[in-house]
Amino acid sequence: SGASRPRVTFLGTGYLGATYAICYAELGYEVLGYDVDADKIAKLNAGEVPIHEPGLDELLRRNLAAGRLRFSTDIAETADFGDVHFICVGTPQRADGMGADLSYVEASVTSLAQHLTRKALIVGKSTVPVGTAEWVEQLVGKHTPADLGVEVAWSPEFLQEGFAVDDVLRPNRIVVGVKSEWANGMLYAAHKGLFDLAATEDREVPMVVTDFATAELVKVAANAFLATKISFINAMAEVCEAAGGDVTQLARAIGYDPRIGNRFLQAGLGFGGACLPKDIRAFQARAQELGAGEALRFLHEVDLINLRRRTRVLHLAAELLGRRSGPAGPDLSGTRIAVLGATFKPNTDDVRDAPALAVAALLHKAGADVHVYDPQGMENARRAVPELTYEPGINEAVTDADLVCVLTEWADFRNADPSVLGDLVAGRRVIDARNCLEGALWTQAGWEYRGL
Ligand code: UGA
Repeated sequence: SGASRPRVTFLGTGYLGATYAICYAELGYEVLGYDVDADKIAKLNAGEVPIHEPGLDELLRRNLAAGRLRFSTDIAETADFGDVHFICVGTPQRADGMGADLSYVEASVTSLAQHLTRKALIVGKSTVPVGTAEWVEQLVGKHTPADLGVEVAWSPEFLQEGFAVDDVLRPNRIVVGVKSEWANGMLYAAHKGLFDLAATEDREVPMVVTDFATAELVKVAANAFLATKISFINAMAEVCEAAGGDVTQLARAIGYDPRIGNRFLQAGLGFGGACLPKDIRAFQARAQELGAGEALRFLHEVDLINLRRRTRVLHLAAELLGRRSGPAGPDLSGTRIAVLGATFKPNTDDVRDAPALAVAALLHKAGADVHVYDPQGMENARRAVPELTYEPGINEAVTDADLVCVLTEWADFRNADPSVLGDLVAGRRVIDARNCLEGALWTQAGWEYRGL
C-alpha cells in the first residue's frame, strides 16, 4: 500500500521531527507525529509549536485544520498509520563528553518494531555514529517477525535552525542509504512532494543514493567541514589580532575565490548549538573506535580554537576595564557588564551550548554583575543559567554598564543607536564579539570599540 503517496510518521517531535512533520503535511502527505512527551503532543495538537522557528506556527495550524496532520503518544496507532516511519529522536552527547547517546534511538525503534503488523520502511534521520543503521536493522529484525519484511534506510538531514522550514521544503540535496530497490522506491515516493515542489519552482533537488555507512558519514562530514571553516577563520582572527590585520576584510578577500566561498566565514565568538560542537566530538570518538582516530585529530584543534574565542572575550573585557589577570583569571568584581545576546545564533530561542551564554557565565564567575537581554532566548537562558540578571530590553540591560558585550548578532543589536545607548551607560566601552556592528559609528559616538 501507499507506494505512490506513502503515509508518513515522524518519531520524536523535537526540533527535527516537529519541523519535518509539519512541512510534510504542507507538501500534501498524510502525517502522524509521535512523541513520548504528552505535554508536547497536546501543545502540537492545539496548534502550538514548542520551538521558535519562523513560519512554522502558521504551517502547523493550516495543516491541522486541513486534517492532514496529527500528533499522538500512542505507538500502536503510529505503527499502524505509517508506510514510512522517520526516526527523528535526539542523540545527545554521552555523559563522558565524547560519543553519542543512542538510547532514544533504541527505545523508539524497539517500541515501533514491536507494534508493526505490516511491511513498512523505517528511516533514520537523527545524527548518529557510523554503523548505527546496521545496528537498527538488527534491532528491527529482533523485534519483528521475518515474514513482515520490515526494512531500514538512512536519510540524514541538513536543516539549519532559523531556516528550518525552507531547508525542509527546499533542500539542496537528498541523501539516502538503502539496501533494496523496494526501499529506494519507497524513499523516492516519500520525497516526491519535494521533487514536485522543486519542479514548479524550476529547481532540481539532487538525490544521492548510497550505502548505509556513507549516508551516515555524509552528515557528520558536512558538520565537521562547517565547524572547520568557522575555526579556520577564527584562527586567522587570532593571527590578525597579533599582526594588526583585519579578519573581516581578510575573510571578504579570500571568500571571493569560489573555491573558498564567502559563507560560514564570519569570524567572531565561534560555533555553538546542539549540533556542531557535539557532532565533531562524537565523530572523533567514533573514528577512534574504528582505528581511524588520527584522521580526525585536527577536529580536536577545531574545538580548541572555538573554545578559545570564549576566554578571549573574558580577557578583552578585563583589558578594557583596566583589570589585571591573576593566575585564577581576571577579577571583574565591582564592574557591571551588559550582555546582549544569549542564543547560539540569531533568529532562534535555542541556548544549547550557546557561546553567548557561556561567556556571560564566565564574566559572572569572574565577579562581574552581568545583565543579559536576548530578543527570544530569555526563558531558556534563565532556566540554563539562573544566576545572571535578566532584563526586559536593550536599554535596561545597558543602563549603568561599564562595558557592553554584543555576543549574538541579532538585528536589534546591529541597528541599535550608539549615541542613545551611550547616554545610558556608565562607561562607553563595547566588545563586538560577532563583528556585526558598524565600528566607525560607535567610535564616532565616543565608544571605545573592540571587535573580536
Ligand atoms: C548546523 C548546520 O549548519 C546544519 O546544516 C545541520 O543540519 C545542523 O547543524 C544539524 O546538524 O542539525 P545549526 O546548528 O542550526 O545548523 O547552526 P549553524 O547555522 O550551522 O550555526 C552554528 C554556529 O556557528 C552558530 O553558533 C553560529 O553563530 C556559528 N557561526 C556560523 C559562526 O560563528 N560563523 C559563521 O560564519 C557561521
